[in-house]
Amino acid sequence: MKIIRSPSAMTAWSEGLRREGVRIGLVPTMGALHDGHRALIRAARLQCDALVVSIFVNPRQFGPREDYATYPRPIARDRALCRKEGADVCFEPTADAMYPEGFQTIVTLPSIARRWEGEARPHHFAGVATVVTKLFGIVRPQITLFGQKDFQQSVLVQQLVKDLNLGVEIIVYPTVREKDGLAMSSRNVYLSPDDRMRAATLYRSLRAGAEAIRKGVTDGKVVQAVMAQVIKDEPTLTIDYLVVCDPRMLEPLSAVISRAVLIGAVRLGPVRLIDNILVTAPRQRS
Ligand code: PAF
Repeated sequence: MKIIRSPSAMTAWSEGLRREGVRIGLVPTMGALHDGHRALIRAARLQCDALVVSIFVNPRQFGPREDYATYPRPIARDRALCRKEGADVCFEPTADAMYPEGFQTIVTLPSIARRWEGEARPHHFAGVATVVTKLFGIVRPQITLFGQKDFQQSVLVQQLVKDLNLGVEIIVYPTVREKDGLAMSSRNVYLSPDDRMRAATLYRSLRAGAEAIRKGVTDGKVVQAVMAQVIKDEPTLTIDYLVVCDPRMLEPLSAVISRAVLIGAVRLGPVRLIDNILVTAPRQRS
């Protein structure tokens, strides 16, 4: 496995292979890889001829009071995981190489980025959209994989690729969970042992909402109340948002009549957890 740090060397490597008809896959990450990333890398490996995993803790998607400086960076372990799972390249650019002096462009998607995570983290999605656009320009993949865990991010990236005709196929891979249902995340290491025991409550609340829809509840507010009750029963958790939305634009749904996504963010001590479930309402009898 090659380690490439310079964006121009990365592009040269990819361009050489593309000329030979090789199909390149990209799994973009910020490192601190866990079994969720492992599943993405494995799935990507089956879909391409040459696989790049990018490891870049992107400063532009962190707010001023967020954990950019302390974000875990276990690079030796990350490289070992990538090597074991058959990546051909670990692309590890520096922040200066990605954002050299004079860098100006910001990619924004105002409607999708406005709500939910965008409200809690105002510059986050512009940072994500900008870095993802750059990674696609540098690595030139034909296919890329994103985890469903960051649902709003995956919607945003699909829209971005469509709007800017980037010609990259996007696969959204199902969330990988711990045994109790907690969605895997690099930030789970911040959970204290006590908080870790309560962390799956978010997933339980989303499941309760999905169950209500499957049983025929259509009123979005009622579904939200069902989810909120599960969180309220666990007093150490506070809700940032817990909503029923349409899965394309992430607008809240007053009535659930077909597909919906239940998305939520809760705070547990110093940690903010996010998760989601896709659900299809049962057909209404006429
Ligand atoms: O999901 C992530 O890890 C990041 O947001 C991404 C897509 C690698 C962009 O920095």
